[in-house]
Amino acid sequence: MTIVFLNGEFMPMADAKISPMDRGFLFGDGIYEVIPSYAGRCIGLLPHLQRMKLGLQAIGMPLPMDINALKTIVERLIRDNGKGNLGIYIHVSRGADIKRSHAYPVNVAQTVFAFTFEIPPEPVADKSLVKGYKVISAQDLRWKRCQVKSTSLLGNVLHFQQGQDAGCHETLLFNQEGYLTEASACNVFVIKNNCILTPPLDHQLLPGITRHLLLDMLKQDNKLHIAERAIHIDEVRCADEIWLTSSSKEVAPVIELDGKPVGDGKVGDIWLAAQRLFSQQKYQY
Ligand code: PDD
Repeated sequence: MTIVFLNGEFMPMADAKISPMDRGFLFGDGIYEVIPSYAGRCIGLLPHLQRMKLGLQAIGMPLPMDINALKTIVERLIRDNGKGNLGIYIHVSRGADIKRSHAYPVNVAQTVFAFTFEIPPEPVADKSLVKGYKVISAQDLRWKRCQVKSTSLLGNVLHFQQGQDAGCHETLLFNQEGYLTEASACNVFVIKNNCILTPPLDHQLLPGITRHLLLDMLKQDNKLHIAERAIHIDEVRCADEIWLTSSSKEVAPVIELDGKPVGDGKVGDIWLAAQRLFSQQKYQY
């Protein structure tokens, strides 16, 4: 039985009820986080909660409780749900009003919901075990506030499905000028001539925690050149390696783009080194 947190109380999932007037439901008016944990240990818990605070600020909402209280909820949910391989989902919406009005409601309590769900075992740095991702490219048709981890995910959902419908795992997104933004549910890294490239943070992509951790580790490791800069689709097409990063995937190698092999079509050596570094250091964050 899954135990969840809803508005101050822990309860079985089946007992958790939210009003249909909730603005999270009616407008997608909320912010969420997904935090990975393995055997009771979270990766990047504080950076995730800090990003949530910034996301709420960006849409004019306060953090419903301080970061330590949120941390305590996460820890209790992990304990109550068996300390396995668990993703922790936290959702804060602007609450349920009695009427449907676009304007922010006054004196309405935020809805705070958190639950855990099973995730696959920890990714391992092993070429023979890792899944090679196949992706397509598409024009990024989402909004201009992709830095906000909003629960309004329809744009991402449509792009994710576009990849699935093409028989692929993900969709790499490019802006109108042909520059890479991110993928529908991951950040993207491109490797060329031993240089590791990733788009700079702006309104076109989510500041991924995995992206941040990996960049920090690679910079400290100081073995390869790293650049956060605009990457044109032509560069992506002739990349030696492409990686997707997210909390659940960690660093995932892409082996095919639009039906053509990435590099030699095999999982690359730089991926191996990067995932190895990530596996070694991820619990320090
Ligand atoms: N997705 N970009 C987008 C659009 C995302 O949805 C995600 C994560 C990322 C990677 O962020 P992070 O490294 O912090 O997980 C980038 C999550 C896991 C999801 O929506 O389920």
